[in-house]
Amino acid sequence: MSHTLEAFRALIADRLGLAFDDGRRATLAGVLDRRANALGVCAPEYVERLRGAGGFARTELGAIAKDLTVGETYFFRDHDQLRVFREVVIPHLSRSASPVRILSAGCASGEEPYTLAILLRERSVGNASIRAVDVNGAALQKAERMRYGAWSLREVPPDVRERWFDRDGDDHVLCADLRDSVQLEERNLAEGGVFDGAPFHVVFCRNVLMYLTPEAVRVVVDRIAQSLVTGGYLFLGHAESLRGVSQDFEPRHTHGTFYYQRSGARTSPRAPDSWADVIASASERVRSLADAQRAAEPPVRRPDLGPAIDLFERERFADAIALLGALPPAEARDPSVMLLHAVLQTHTGDLVGAEQTCGELLRLDTTSAGAHHLIALCREAAGDLSGAREHDRLAVGIDASFAMPWLHLGLVATRAGDGDAANLAFSRALVLLEGEDPTRILLFGGGFRRDALLALCRSHLAREAAHG
Ligand SMILES: C[S@@+](CC[C@H](N)C(=O)[O-])C[C@H]1O[C@@H](n2cnc3c(N)ncnc32)[C@H](O)[C@@H]1O
Repeated sequence: MSHTLEAFRALIADRLGLAFDDGRRATLAGVLDRRANALGVCAPEYVERLRGAGGFARTELGAIAKDLTVGETYFFRDHDQLRVFREVVIPHLSRSASPVRILSAGCASGEEPYTLAILLRERSVGNASIRAVDVNGAALQKAERMRYGAWSLREVPPDVRERWFDRDGDDHVLCADLRDSVQLEERNLAEGGVFDGAPFHVVFCRNVLMYLTPEAVRVVVDRIAQSLVTGGYLFLGHAESLRGVSQDFEPRHTHGTFYYQRSGARTSPRAPDSWADVIASASERVRSLADAQRAAEPPVRRPDLGPAIDLFERERFADAIALLGALPPAEARDPSVMLLHAVLQTHTGDLVGAEQTCGELLRLDTTSAGAHHLIALCREAAGDLSGAREHDRLAVGIDASFAMPWLHLGLVATRAGDGDAANLAFSRALVLLEGEDPTRILLFGGGFRRDALLALCRSHLAREAAHG
C-alpha cells in the first residue's frame, strides 16, 4: 500500500472510526482518487489538507463517509429484536413517568428509527422521542424524504404497510405523522456530542460496530454505556457482540435473540461470578492472552496473492489451488487466501468444498461479503433458491457496494419467476457495477468483464419491461 493510501486509511480510522483491511484497498484508493480529482489536487496534497481540523476536513469527511460507509438497512429488520422491543422494552418503559429517550446510532436512511416510531405509535406510547444519527448526510436526506422503494419494505407485515405507507408509483411514502417522532442529525459517533444531554433509555446501534476499528468500537461502546440509564437497553446487530469490549452491560437472551441491559453504576460491585462476569472475564483473558501471544510471535507475513491470481486469470485453476496449498499454514489461514481458494473451488466445480471453505472463513471473519456471495452461488447450484437469496442478502448487508450479489439476486428472482424482485436487483447491480472494483469483477464475475455484466443486467431489465 502506498504511503499516501496508508495515511488516508489511518485518517479514516482516526476521524470516522472506520476500519479498512487490505481486501478493500481498491475501494479506498478509488475514493481517494475521486475526491482528489474533484478538488483538482494530487492525492498527497488532499490527504495533507484532510489532516487539518477546519471546515475543509469536516466537509470532506462527510463526502468520504457517503462513499465509504455501508448503508444497507430496511424496515422491520430483525423481527426477534423488535419483538423484544415490543414485548419487553415498551411495557418496561411505559411504567416510567419521564419521557422515553431512544437513540438510533447509525440510522442510515431512517428505516430503523421509523420502524421504532411505528412500533411505539402502535402501542400508543406518546411520550417518547427518537434521536437518529448518522455520519452519512446523503442517507439522512433520504430519511428526510420518507420515501422508500419496495426493497426497503421487504420485511414489513402487510397490515403495517397498509396503515403507515401510501403508494406513489413505485415508491412507498411514510405517513407524515411520523416525521416529528424522529429527530435526524448528521453526527459522527467517533466524535463526542452524540451522547451528550439527557440519558437514553434505549440505544439501537445495529450493524455499525462491525465496520469500526477495535479502538473506535471501545470508544463508542463506552460512550453508549455512559449515556444509558441503569437498566437501559442496548441492541446490536446479530453479528456483533460486546464480548471482550465492555463490562458495563448484562447480556440478555430472550425471544431467540441477544441484547444488553446497562448494569449498575461501575462503582457498585456486581454479584461476584455472575455468569456475565465469568463470560466477560474469560473473554478478556482470552483477548489478553491472544494479544500477548501476538506480541511474542513474529508477525505473520501477508501472503502475496499475485501469482495465484495470475494463474486464475489464465484459467489454470488447479495450478492456482496447488500454489495456495503450498503456502505455510499461517498464511493459508489468511482470510484473503481462503476466499481466493473458495473462488477457485467454484471454478473447478468443487461446490461442496467451496461452501466448506467459506464456512471456515466466516468463522474467522463474519464480515466476509465475498464468502456469503460464494455460498449463495453454491446454494443456487444445489437448487436451494431461498438459501441463495439469504446469503446474497447477507453479502449486500455487509457491503452494500458489492454489485455481484445483486446481479445474482436478479438471476435467482428471474429463475423463481419474481419479476419485481428481479427488476430491483438488476437495477441495483447496474448502478453498482459501474464503480465495482476490478479485482472483485475478476473474482466473482464468473469470467465476464464489466461490459458483459452490464449488458446482462440491461438485457434482463429490457426483457422484464417487455413482459411487464
Ligand atoms: C449498515 S448501516 C446500519 C443501519 C441500521 N442501524 C440497521 O441496522 O439497519 C450502518 C450505518 O452506520 C453508519 N456509520 C458508520 N460509521 C459511523 C460513524 N462513525 N458515525 C455515525 N454513523 C456511522 C453508516 O453511515 C451507515 O449508515
